[in-house]
Amino acid sequence: YVLGIDLGTSAVKVLLVNQNGEIHKETSKSYPLIQEKTGYSEQDPEQWVIQTIAAISELVDHFDGDINDIEGLSFSGQMHGLVLLDDEHQVLRNAILWNDTRTTDQCRHIYDAIGEKKLLEITKNPALEGFTLPKILWVKENEPHKYEQAATFLLPKDYVRYRFTGRLHMECSDAAGTLLLDVASQSWSEELCDIMDIDPKICLPLVKSHELVGTITEELAVDTGLTKETRVFAGGADNACGAIGSGILSEGKTLASIGTSGVVLSYEENSDLDFEGKVHYFNHAKENAYYTMGVTLSAGHSLSWFKEVFAEGKDFEELLAEANQVPIGSNGLLFTPYLAGERTPYADAVIRSSFIGMSDSHKLGDFVRAVLEGITFSLNESIHIFRENGKKIDTIFSVGGGAKSELWMQIQADIFDADIIKLETEQGPGMGAAMLAGVGCGWYESLEACADRFLEKNQVFKPNKESVKKYRRLYEIYRKVYGSTAALNQ
Ligand code: XUL
Repeated sequence: YVLGIDLGTSAVKVLLVNQNGEIHKETSKSYPLIQEKTGYSEQDPEQWVIQTIAAISELVDHFDGDINDIEGLSFSGQMHGLVLLDDEHQVLRNAILWNDTRTTDQCRHIYDAIGEKKLLEITKNPALEGFTLPKILWVKENEPHKYEQAATFLLPKDYVRYRFTGRLHMECSDAAGTLLLDVASQSWSEELCDIMDIDPKICLPLVKSHELVGTITEELAVDTGLTKETRVFAGGADNACGAIGSGILSEGKTLASIGTSGVVLSYEENSDLDFEGKVHYFNHAKENAYYTMGVTLSAGHSLSWFKEVFAEGKDFEELLAEANQVPIGSNGLLFTPYLAGERTPYADAVIRSSFIGMSDSHKLGDFVRAVLEGITFSLNESIHIFRENGKKIDTIFSVGGGAKSELWMQIQADIFDADIIKLETEQGPGMGAAMLAGVGCGWYESLEACADRFLEKNQVFKPNKESVKKYRRLYEIYRKVYGSTAALNQ
């Protein structure tokens, strides 16, 4: 067995997986978000450690096999979050997370200092509030006493792995989201550190995602119930691990993942395409590979928000059943999912959502369907960018909450105008982390061989020509809403 540990934003999820990719057990433990001010989003790294230990030890308690058979573990983690350590490896402040938007000024400062062209040349990505470099600059400006004590920085799962092994490393798939990595050469950019006046010594040595970084410490072995021989492999960013866990391991494969945020992700063999920073371009957790990705910040979150505010007491199934009674286009109601700003294609932290076209005949089901369609239109903006750049996208693997509803799968097929594939057992990033550990343990010679064994396809949802046409017209209207409402929130 191996453990795949997915350190998410709301919870850590641990999967116990055998050599056939079957999930023997899973546990999950949640931790709170700390939101002291609008736009702030932090977490206490100690909580990640405590809850990861709790989730593993609960799993071990209920494990009826031989503990020595749990050979290794690896991590998938929420990206971009800044964990600062002093020279004794003590955490200096709460981690500032990927969905924290306080750093607009720092992003501007990065562009002023280095210029957009050069930044894209090195990092392949634009300066966005969520990324790590702007967060480092924010601490430098606003908490100089903390910054002065900072000896190194880590990303969330790298900190938890450090606590498991006592060793400090980072790996490329997550480092790519810091805005300090030269993505093509897979090394820290000294030039960028220099221009931004950051000591390159705070950047840790980089390892490969399936690389062995150590075994677990004696203390952690006692706390978790695992043996000291349990091998720890570096792991990857949640999106890279989600891609592995869905078999996005060769050219032409695309993933739509709808969780709290939504992602459309496409495999790239090379780092030399130019999307002008319109989509993210990161290192894959598969060696020497890449992926491009567009992000909808409030995907599943839009639906949860709607449920909480307008449909208290109903569950998702009831809401989706009501939406299922409503025709394409939600009887003229349109929603944009910009509840907390939008990443792709606008990179705008202040834009906000709209419902437009409301009439007094609209019912709850119309609103729910409009929310589903609006989220899917937003993801389609990323697909649009891929297609505009010559990518052929006719088959998309859909995972996460969006894959749980047949209605939403069909909406995806019709809006994306592509075949949508559902995987038989879909565990996303946690499974990707388990696959990295499995390959690291030598079970399979490559991630591809592991994916062939682990991942089975299930249903395919095909686009309906008539529906595609109707959605195309609505998508054009959807795209105009951003420009017409942007001034509202300036
Ligand atoms: C990616 C991003 C999110 C987080 C969520 O750029 O910010 O997908 O990784 O965990």
